[in-house]
Order: sequence, then C-alpha cells, then structure tokens
Amino acid sequence: MADAPAYEVDALIAEDIGAYLAQHQSKSLLRFITCGSVDDGKSTLIGRLLYDSKMIFEDQLAQLEADSKRVGTQGQEIDFALLVDGLAAEREQGITIDVAYRFFATEKRKFIVADTPGHEQYTRNMVTGASTADLAVILVDARKGVLVQTRRHSFIAHLLGIRHIVLAVNKMDLIGYDQAIFDQIVADYSSFSESIGIESFAAIPISGFKGDNITAAPSLATPWYGGPSLIAHLENVELGGDAAQSRPLRMPVQWVNRPNLDFRGFSGLIASGSVKPGDAVRIVPSGKTSTVKSIVTFGGDLDSAVAGQSVTLTLTDEIDCSRGDVIAAAGDPPEASDQFEATLVWMSDEALKPGRGYWLKLAAQTVTASVQEPKYEINVNTMARLAAKTLELNAIGVAEIQTDRPITFEAYENSRSLGGFILIDKITNATVAAGLLHFSLRRAQNVHWQATTITRADHAALKNQQPRVLWFTGLSGSGKSTIANAVEQRLNLMNRHTFLLDGDNVRHGLNKDLGFTEADRIENIRRVGEVARLMADAGLVVLTAFISPFRAERQMVREILPEGEFIEIFVDTPLSVAEARDVKGLYKKARAGELKNFTGIDSPYEPPENPDIRVNTVEMTVDEAADEIIRQIMPLK
Ligand code: ADX
Repeated sequence: MADAPAYEVDALIAEDIGAYLAQHQSKSLLRFITCGSVDDGKSTLIGRLLYDSKMIFEDQLAQLEADSKRVGTQGQEIDFALLVDGLAAEREQGITIDVAYRFFATEKRKFIVADTPGHEQYTRNMVTGASTADLAVILVDARKGVLVQTRRHSFIAHLLGIRHIVLAVNKMDLIGYDQAIFDQIVADYSSFSESIGIESFAAIPISGFKGDNITAAPSLATPWYGGPSLIAHLENVELGGDAAQSRPLRMPVQWVNRPNLDFRGFSGLIASGSVKPGDAVRIVPSGKTSTVKSIVTFGGDLDSAVAGQSVTLTLTDEIDCSRGDVIAAAGDPPEASDQFEATLVWMSDEALKPGRGYWLKLAAQTVTASVQEPKYEINVNTMARLAAKTLELNAIGVAEIQTDRPITFEAYENSRSLGGFILIDKITNATVAAGLLHFSLRRAQNVHWQATTITRADHAALKNQQPRVLWFTGLSGSGKSTIANAVEQRLNLMNRHTFLLDGDNVRHGLNKDLGFTEADRIENIRRVGEVARLMADAGLVVLTAFISPFRAERQMVREILPEGEFIEIFVDTPLSVAEARDVKGLYKKARAGELKNFTGIDSPYEPPENPDIRVNTVEMTVDEAADEIIRQIMPLK
C-alpha cells in the first residue's frame, strides 16, 4: 500500500482502531500529526507520549529496556525512538505505508497520532497524515530554530485545513532551558506563520528525552514558562467539530447494501450535516428526491445521525442511487461540475504532464481528469508564486482541471471529504498527486451535446464498411508514413473510404502552434485523436502516422473510440536503423545538439507493450509490411 490514497486512510486503519476506540467511547477524539526534520526527536517524543499514558504493554516495555541497553543511543535510559521505530517496522510487514498511526488515551481524551517521516521528499506522507488531522505538532530543535522544513510542514498543515498548530520547541535540555532562545524561536515562527495565514499557535518548551512539559506536571527546569504541558494542551484544545454538523447534509455513498430483495440501504460516512427519518433528500448528480425511512447501524436503528458517523440509510422510494453518488439535503444540494481550479501537491518522481489523462478519485467517485499547465507553483520556503510549466516531486501548485464527466464536490475549505481528491497514473496505478478543490469553472456549462439524425451507423452503412482507426506509432524515420501510405493504397483499391493523417502534414495546419515538448506532444495526440474520432464517426477508415511516443496518450485515444475500432500498429524499427537512414537529416542535427527534444535521443519513446500488430522494416519490405497489416485487419467489412 505504498500508494495509500490520502483519503482512504480512514478505511485502512478502521479495523485497528475500532476495538480500541470502543473502550474509550465516551471521550472525544483528537487526531494529530507530528512533523519535524530528521533529527528533531519526533520518535522520542511519540514514544514518550505513549509511555506516559501507559499504552505500552508490559512485554513490549521489557523488550524495550533490553534493546535500549543493547543498541540504544542514550546510555542506560530508555530510548523511546526504539519503541516507535520497532512498531513501525512491525506494521510495515503487513502493509507498507509510510505513515504510522498510534493510539493512546488519557483520562480526558483519546488520541490518534500520525507519525510522518520528516525528510523533504516525504511530503506525500505528510499530506496523507495531515488530511485527517485536527492538530499539528511542529517540532523544532531548540539548537537549530525555525528551518526550511518547519515552514514547509506548517504551510502544508495549514493548506490541508489543520486549524490547531503547536510549536513544540524540543531539546530544551541541550540549551540549558534558556528562555531567551525559546522566545527568539517563537518570534521567528510568529512572523512566518502570520504571513501564511495561520491565525494562532501554542508554543511549548519541551524535552522529549527528559520529559519536560510533556505530561501534566509543569517542568521545574522552565519556571519562566506558565503555559500547559503538551498533553494538557492536547487534552483541552477546543475541537469545534460542530462546524461540519451545522452544514447541509452530504453523504457520499460508499456502497449499496442489498443483502436480500426486501432491503436496500445506502452506506457511507456522513461528511457534513445531520439526518433523521422523514428528512427530504436529493441524490446528486441525478437530482432525484426521496425521504429517509430509517438509519440503520450494527447497534440498531438511530433516531438521528451526524457528520462523522458511518451509517446505512434506507429511503421510502425505489430510486437509482449507486456508489459515487451523494445523498444530500433536498433543498441545498452540492454542485456538480467538470472544470475546477485546485491546489495540487505533486507526489510522484514523474512530473505532471499537462493534458494527460489521470484517474481522479474524490469521495467514492472515479473519473478521468486532465490538468492544464499550472497557473503558478508556490515556493514553500518564501511563499512566492512562481511561473511553472509542470509540477515536480513535492511541488505545490495551482492549476485548472477538467474531468470527462461532472463530479459532485464542495470546496475543500468547507469539506475535506468532498473537496479533497487524489490523482492516479493510469498506466502504473501509482498515486501521483493530492488535490484540494477551490471552485468550479463554468465554461462548458451551457454547451450541450447535439443529437444528429444521421448517426455514425448510418454513415458507415452508406460506405458499406466498419470504421477503424489504424494507429501507426514508432520512431521518426521508422517507416510509419511510408507503410501507412502503402496500406491506404491497398484499401483504396478495395473500395474502402479512407483518410491518412500524417504528423508532418497536420503540424503544418491544425497543430502548427505545437512544438516537441512533452506537453505539446500530448496536446498534438489529443487533437489528432479527436479528429480521428470525428472521421471514424463519419464512417471512414482512418490511418494516422505520428510518433505518438507516450503509452498514456495512445491509451487515451483507444478509450475515446468504440471498443475494437482502435488498432495499434507498432512500426518496430530499431533506433540504430532509423538513425542510419536519417531520411530528413534530423538525427544528425539532434546528435550535434542543434535540435532539442528529439525522440530517441533526448526525448523518450515508450514502445507499445501489447500492440495489435507489429511490423518492422528491417525484416520485411514496405510492401510485405503493408500486406501483413491488410491480412491482419481483414475481414474489414
Ligand atoms: S509526436 O511526437 O508529437 O507524435 P509527430 O509525429 O507529430 O510527433 O511529428 C514528428 C515529425 O516531426 C518527425 O517525423 C520529424 O520529421 C519532425 N520533428 C521535428 N522535430 C522533432 C523532434 N524534436 N522530435 C521528433 N520529431 C521531430
């Protein structure tokens, strides 16, 4: 689960915490994260919290004492870092997730703490942890003060909607509990946090190692500090969970519960608002309305339920409602849209490719989405807005997003569950970004699909043929155009209605504004794919000869055509052969550095893994290759 989507973490840990939470049912729950740089003492602090709240089992404690003596870095005292790291390793044997969740409780409250690695490259883990947290403990090493990492973590915590920030100035023992140093760090942090819109924070001088100001008793070493200990602060911070409850009802449907013909319930977590039997509800996006009949849970039916509860609703009418739909207050439903502005946190080694189709998952909805070139990237050290063509690993930027069909959403600042989403690479299935929706753009809202009387089937029937797109892909100079041309001649002799779209030609007209950057190639293929689709709708057999170097875009064209109409033909000529031919002299220029981004030289080509047809102009002549293709696509009715 290295790619545990940020917004599915709840389900992931639900089993573990269920039993634990049941024991402490009457207490309120605080979810928090700890963030710090590598050596700020995070593991020691968490170990201390667990130890002091007696959440360590006896046998683990004995083992820990033995390990501390053996490998501990802290002499004879118990090394709390060993405890947390040990648990993390254990957990990772089952599912590899870089965020470790720990549970503990005090007299007043129960806690879930997400421990996220501190390295800069672990932004994604921090986002995962922060997406469900109410509070963030930002750890600072008293000897080092506010670092780049401190700002970065604070900014992400604030961005993800965490309203409670604790600045824990750690390792006070190593600076002799010096108040002046503490005050200076607080002043530094104050001016920074104000600049990014953090309204307030609590600063606490601590020592995770010695235990100062961690538990209830104030430390004698910091007589100048009059505030609460860390635990006391965590116990008493006001959560204001009512904000979500006072908003209108939204419940994304996770699954439809239909154990037998007599029962049909819709299960999910109430994201906001409250519900009771008799309430009028609307299913979004269909817009159908009904009335709540009952609220079913394992413990029996409820009179009402509020945000944060997982329930199953039954309705008085038999109406269509499936996974991904949202059950909402009838009079105040959420919006549905297919164009948005959003903040993206890029989490993949492979940079954002503007225009590429990714899976977008929001609540229980999954759609195809493409991201435009970012409006700007945010420098998380200076908060400056920078121009950007893409987003690299760990970059945070703002961009417009389009989806292939409308999704139901809310602004992230109003609803984390209906405003937070992830993007997934369609080929590798890796989570590449987390996103926060701002608002919808209404460009396409009044554009409707026009139904025509003469259908694509009519066009094809008149031509007495079945439309096809023969998609040739391969390196420059591989022979795509030549073979496609020979295939078209044969089809023409067979009375087929065809059209050949060729890279060099299309780039003189329709696509003359495009160059050879990755973004431009993606847009080139998107447009050509759309044109090929229109021509296939007109009943033609379309041949295309474009390098089309990326799997994702070839896949995209396959997806917009009816099943079976897209035929991928790989002209599998090795680079050495294409380069030796160098028909247009471009390889020579590219090798000399006069032509940048040349496919096969300094721009990638991703060969098809499973082409429908493979030909090769080393082993066969052009005529043989064309005959082979005709043989394979016949009978082409
Ligand atoms: S694609 O990558 O976007 O699919 P396309 O097939 O349209 O490329 O155009 C490729 C043709 O453009 C090549 O056959 C070659 O003649 C020309 N060309 C010019 N510059 C480049 C370049 N940097 N990389 C590849 N082809 C180039």
